[in-house]
Amino acid sequence: VVDIRKFYGQSGRFTYDPGFTSTASCESKITYIDGDEGVLLHRGYPIEQLSEQSSFMEVAYLLLRGELPTPDEHDDFVRTISRHTMVHEQLAMFYRGFRRDAHPMAIMCGVVGALSAFYHDSTDINDPAQRLIASHRLIAKMPTIAAMAYKYAVGQPFLYPDNSLSYTGNFLRMTFGVPAEQYEVNPVVEKALDRIFILHADHEQNASTSTVRLAGSSGANPFACMAAGIACLWGPAHGGANEAALNMLREIGRPERIPEFIARAKDKNDPFRLMGFGHRVYKNYDPRATVMQKTVREVLSALGVDDPVFEVALRLEELALSDDYFAEKKLFPNVDFYSGIILSAIGFPTTMFTVLFALARTVGWVAQWNEMIEDPEQKIGRPRQLYTGATTRDYIPLDKR
Ligand code: ACO
Repeated sequence: VVDIRKFYGQSGRFTYDPGFTSTASCESKITYIDGDEGVLLHRGYPIEQLSEQSSFMEVAYLLLRGELPTPDEHDDFVRTISRHTMVHEQLAMFYRGFRRDAHPMAIMCGVVGALSAFYHDSTDINDPAQRLIASHRLIAKMPTIAAMAYKYAVGQPFLYPDNSLSYTGNFLRMTFGVPAEQYEVNPVVEKALDRIFILHADHEQNASTSTVRLAGSSGANPFACMAAGIACLWGPAHGGANEAALNMLREIGRPERIPEFIARAKDKNDPFRLMGFGHRVYKNYDPRATVMQKTVREVLSALGVDDPVFEVALRLEELALSDDYFAEKKLFPNVDFYSGIILSAIGFPTTMFTVLFALARTVGWVAQWNEMIEDPEQKIGRPRQLYTGATTRDYIPLDKR
């Protein structure tokens, strides 16, 4: 019999909560989710209104500063972000060290993590002015870094940002401009991608955001913290699900094959899951998936694309939602179920999908990181464990074993 207080603190209270299903790690004023009702609010504003009526830059300002910008504040913010879109020329060398077939998320982890080596004047986390510059730099440079990862993979020259374009228009041009001067931003595509960025901007204490907060709690610089967030996001159970969902829909290929995949998802001896389905917090339809489904129709019709995968997705959703297994477990399409179809229609390869998620989520990571540092209750994050290993035993010399 052991006195548990010896191991788990003087209060004797100890919570064992694998996966943190019921443990709040912080207080936050940024994002609210009601998973039972399918509600998502940023600083109180419903995601449906933000995605329909605002822009990604407005949402970025809102998440960072707590209020929607006035027209002057908005223009000033956009100008500030535009000023930081260039990356140091030396950074281009980093890309050249990667294989051409490297996954762009691997490149993102490395390049974003390396930014602290270039921007020494924004790594002092105790200085609010430096934190602000780091936040602006990260939001501004992510599209440039992401577009460079794409250009490197396809073997085309890197393009410099064009700050006369919108945040999203500039990203599209840096990605698809060949040659840059002749690239014209399609307003429907620009609007759709901007909306996708809004839908991915923040989602309270998800795995990657918690990772950013945990890394930041030790005082690590913001660029290193974002690299940690990118690494966590890459997993197929999190941001990597958008890539996995489209790959799955393509593998299913035609509506007649859906029952076979639904049966596999229900089979406990098969590790297969319906990608883009289910969520830790939403036990109802993910409100972002509703907006995403509508956006798919708009983009496909504007681009004149007839992608049979959309038909498969709609039918899969219909069949899954009328199946007892999914109803009992409250599994609904999440944000990643439809996003891949839009991104693919725009021309992004599947390997870029999670990169786009990281680009958008940088805004949330940065906002949450700042909130954590400003929180007077902030401590280094240090979970405890329930030890189940060997009890004390004596060492046996190597020649006696
Ligand atoms: N297909 C089939 N069964 C599923 C699925 C799915 N997509 N998701 C969950 N289940 C089942 C599980 O097998 C489990 O069944 P059990 O109770 O009989 O063991 C039950 O539903 C609960 O699932 P958990 O994994 O315990 O739920 P958790 O909250 O830990 O996981 C997660 C949530 C990771 C999102 C899960 O639903 C999943 O793997 N989905 C597919 C991947 C995906 O789409 N991820 C994107 C999430 S959204 C985002 O990150 C932006």
